[in-house]
Amino acid sequence: MDIPREQNIYGRRSGRPLKDIQKKRLEELLPQVAITLPETNHSLDPKPLFDPSVQEVWLEIGIGGGEHLAYQARHNPTVGLIGAEFFINGIAKTLAYVDEENLSNIRLQHGDARELLDALKDDCLDRAFILFPDPWRKRRHNFRRIVNLETLNHMVRILKVGSELRIATDHFDYLTWILRFCQQHPNLEWHAENRSNWIDPPKDWITTRYQEKAIREGRVPAFLSYKIVK
Ligand SMILES: C[S@@+](CC[C@H](N)C(=O)[O-])C[C@H]1O[C@@H](n2cnc3c(N)ncnc32)[C@H](O)[C@@H]1O
Repeated sequence: MDIPREQNIYGRRSGRPLKDIQKKRLEELLPQVAITLPETNHSLDPKPLFDPSVQEVWLEIGIGGGEHLAYQARHNPTVGLIGAEFFINGIAKTLAYVDEENLSNIRLQHGDARELLDALKDDCLDRAFILFPDPWRKRRHNFRRIVNLETLNHMVRILKVGSELRIATDHFDYLTWILRFCQQHPNLEWHAENRSNWIDPPKDWITTRYQEKAIREGRVPAFLSYKIVK
């Protein structure tokens, strides 16, 4: 029997009690920026979700506290940024950036990013990020990893030819897992010519909260940039 996706979320949906201001933003601001998923798969065109209109749409899966999403939105005002996250405290933190900086080019999916991937139509994105996904260290939990063949097939379907899929991880075993899946994928090309291509952060990069933790704990993050070829 298939287990419905709602029962199949791995990780925390909520953390510390929310402050009043966060609750207010969730009640009032989230409905203005939240994405409603269509009933039909592969039908969601994300560009019309943005007002004022945008030239490109980028997607980030698992935005955590939204530092990177907000950074990209701030520095790329003509790009629409979609962030997917099921941790309510992360959504609340991201809404603070939207509110305080008046970032009109952010849209959020509060829920399972895999449902958003199902919903998005073909060739509708110009860039995508999966940054420091949960590593699910125990071997018996590896199947929970968000980077897998299903996710990569979606990425190849929804990203335009020549666009970038950027993945970062601080976990060595997950790194080898990601490399294995990506290297075997016929529609992903990795152009790392030397060590610095994947050890040094990309130029348009802000250190995320999880990356800071990794550095504090002595782990070396890797940054993988794949080009979509079809
Ligand atoms: C280790 S954190 C990294 C957060 C952020 N990218 C950063 O670098 O600070 C992974 C995040 O992915 C989220 N996440 C994991 N699986 C998800 C899914 N299927 N849909 C939406 N969010 C997900 C978790 O809730 C968590 O916030």
